[in-house]
Amino acid sequence: MSNQLSFFDTPVAQHHVGAGSFAEELAEFTYYGKRTELSSTKAVIDGAKLLDVPTFTNEFWTSRQRAAHSMHEISYRACFKPQLPRFFIERLTHPGDRVYDPFMGRGTTVLEAALLGRRAAGCDVNPLSAVLVSGRLQPPTMAQVESRLKNLELSGRIDVREDLLVFYHPETLKEICALRAYLLKREASGTLDSIDRWIRMVAVNRLTGHSTGFFSVYTLPPNQAVSVDGQRKINAKRQQVPSRRDVKRIIAKKTASLLADATLRPGGSLSLMGTMR
Ligand SMILES: C[S@@+](CC[C@H](N)C(=O)[O-])C[C@H]1O[C@@H](n2cnc3c(N)ncnc32)[C@H](O)[C@@H]1O
Repeated sequence: MSNQLSFFDTPVAQHHVGAGSFAEELAEFTYYGKRTELSSTKAVIDGAKLLDVPTFTNEFWTSRQRAAHSMHEISYRACFKPQLPRFFIERLTHPGDRVYDPFMGRGTTVLEAALLGRRAAGCDVNPLSAVLVSGRLQPPTMAQVESRLKNLELSGRIDVREDLLVFYHPETLKEICALRAYLLKREASGTLDSIDRWIRMVAVNRLTGHSTGFFSVYTLPPNQAVSVDGQRKINAKRQQVPSRRDVKRIIAKKTASLLADATLRPGGSLSLMGTMR
């Protein structure tokens, strides 16, 4: 196999079969019962150099695997199954190594790297991504979230954008706006902490969706959000009106399910390793 890309020679860090290069590991992989087929793909690099890229075809992960860590389970269209980045992270890196995802989206790779004890780093052109990822790299405990929610005052007078009433019941919209004002104030004063970042992550992820686990009436998830006009059409077609949703209760419920697999470290911390930029 000539002209191999350099990472194919990386020694395998953790794997199911004997020690060897990454290429040997893929070639010998039979974990799901099939033998790997070897072939070659022609690839043009930098517009000139023609490479024969070794190509390995097999089932290297499967949707039949047991569910991944609960911390991944936020609503997001177009994400990897966590087992996909895990496959590569386990074989190409060691604990403590840096794993970087420049297109992190909801953060599947970054989070999985942190869960595997790697130093995770990532970025994304969409600011939604950092909000969804940073809150989960330093998760608070359930008790910390419950206590913060209990002390949050979301029922005072607040101006709301009337057009958003196509998505939300008026009382729910007031609570969302009050929470937003609280988070912006904490950010502006430099006091936004890991509990606030968690609450912001859950709240942003619960803004819009298709079940009663979201603040909105039936609609698309946050990273595919529809316009106000688009939502009017959805409401008319489905003959629906936004019903009252309890913002704090939804945040607490989603927090409990996200933290279901998290184990407390001595001292009560749930910290994962990670860096955001
Ligand atoms: C399909 S998502 C990645 C999902 C991720 N692999 C996961 O499983 O969570 C692709 C991401 O790339 C980001 N993106 C696209 N072009 C980019 C660019 N030029 N620089 C940084 N991020 C970019 C998008 O904003 C989007 O979040």
